[in-house]
Amino acid sequence: MGEPLIYEICRAGRKAVHLPDVDVPESPLPQDALRGELPLPEVSEIDLVRHYTRLSQLNHSIDTGFYPLGSCTMKYNPKVNEYAARMAGLANLHPLQDMDSIQGAMALMHNLQEMLAEIAGFAAVTLQPAAGAHGELTGVLIMRKYLYEKGETQRDVIIVPDSAHGTNPATTSMSGLKVVECPSAADGNVDLAALKALIAKHGDRLVGLMLTNPNTLGLFDENVAEVLQLVHEAGGLVYGDGANFNAILGIAKPGALGFDVMHYNLHKTFSTPHGGGGPGSGAVGVAAHLAEYLPGPIVARDEDGYFRWEMPAKSIGRVKAFWGNFGILVRAYTYIRMHGAAGLRAISENAVLNANYIQARLRGVYPIPHGDRTCMHEFVAQGKLDGAPTINTMDIAKRLMDYEFHPPTVYFPLIVPEAIMIEPTETESKETLDAFCDAMIQIAQEARETPELLKTAPHNSPVKRLDEVRAAKELQLCYAPGCS
Ligand SMILES: Cc1ncc(COP(=O)(O)O)c(C=O)c1O
Repeated sequence: MGEPLIYEICRAGRKAVHLPDVDVPESPLPQDALRGELPLPEVSEIDLVRHYTRLSQLNHSIDTGFYPLGSCTMKYNPKVNEYAARMAGLANLHPLQDMDSIQGAMALMHNLQEMLAEIAGFAAVTLQPAAGAHGELTGVLIMRKYLYEKGETQRDVIIVPDSAHGTNPATTSMSGLKVVECPSAADGNVDLAALKALIAKHGDRLVGLMLTNPNTLGLFDENVAEVLQLVHEAGGLVYGDGANFNAILGIAKPGALGFDVMHYNLHKTFSTPHGGGGPGSGAVGVAAHLAEYLPGPIVARDEDGYFRWEMPAKSIGRVKAFWGNFGILVRAYTYIRMHGAAGLRAISENAVLNANYIQARLRGVYPIPHGDRTCMHEFVAQGKLDGAPTINTMDIAKRLMDYEFHPPTVYFPLIVPEAIMIEPTETESKETLDAFCDAMIQIAQEARETPELLKTAPHNSPVKRLDEVRAAKELQLCYAPGCS
């Protein structure tokens, strides 16, 4: 990488901090608490600012380019969200303030709970979980407790379709339950015959099933009503993985379809930043029979309009400190209020339209296993091209970086060999979609004519092609300083 490291620009004696004079009595630190001299980098303020500003510009971001990362919904994060989250009356609150002094913030959370419940057709919502995966864990623990309290403690099996995100089986295991995989049928829907056989096999040990709809193939599972019925008839519950909710906002309500519980990824559907792994929000909605099991405290509203924290009667307990990632909740609230009901529906219509536009332009250029179906907000192509036997998905993804696009999600879902999962989101213009399609078409041609160009890509990025296995196995996080 061309950029110098911070230790390479430091010079002894330079500094970027100017602390005020001490205005309290000095108190020496106990000697045994000191670790000796720390070799911290010594740099001037301007060098420091330039260093980190340059580093920040090396990253691809939604604010600087198209980010078609399937299943992640990397939509534009409107600046008005940031404005609202930074308002002093919201940003400067302390989570331990008493309820009288934070009624406004509690009203915002209560409204958000109600809006999310209404949008997805659920009776109640918790805002505590910090991510989608955390919401899944919360939801499955709720399902388990509900069944155990009914005396059905023998139930320990959850069915997960083979197209599911890895967090679904991980959640199941973390909840102490057993994962049983259900295959997808050739059309991309859950294989109903296989599901019936699994339900018959596991009988009264079934806790339920986790279903992502639209699924990770970007398809609306047309058998959803039957899947729900089969699981419910067997005494199980159905968990909705709401990571793909961006495709059906204002069009379908999972709660009304019969899902018992679902998480929302506020950092996908509701435009809050993904931010390097967090903070996020995986709010969870439940049908009426599960409302008492939600983690708490949640915000309740008295008849006189006073908001207070309330622990649901049979709560699974807390799943996070305090009240959830409040700043993220403010952003999601702002986003929903800015759009209104009609705007939310338009989000999904445009997300689906954009994905179908790209799918139509790439049909015949790349294999698209379910390309005969209308896709939802994303679709899955394959990096296998006739006439380019050495080229794979990784080569295509790396070459896209030379065209200044973030690569789509690759090698997921696992059931599609050489998968390239493309999700444009509703926030992109036709010009951007066309530029991306042109690049994909050009790359397919290069793959046949100049495959070496793909094999050695990326060529223009600060970091070139990495040995991904060595990078993972021999990770070096420390730099030995040579400060002059
Ligand atoms: C289908 C699906 N389910 C669950 C998750 C987990 O969400 P999170 O990353 O917020 O934990 C993801 C994340 O990409 C996903 O795509």
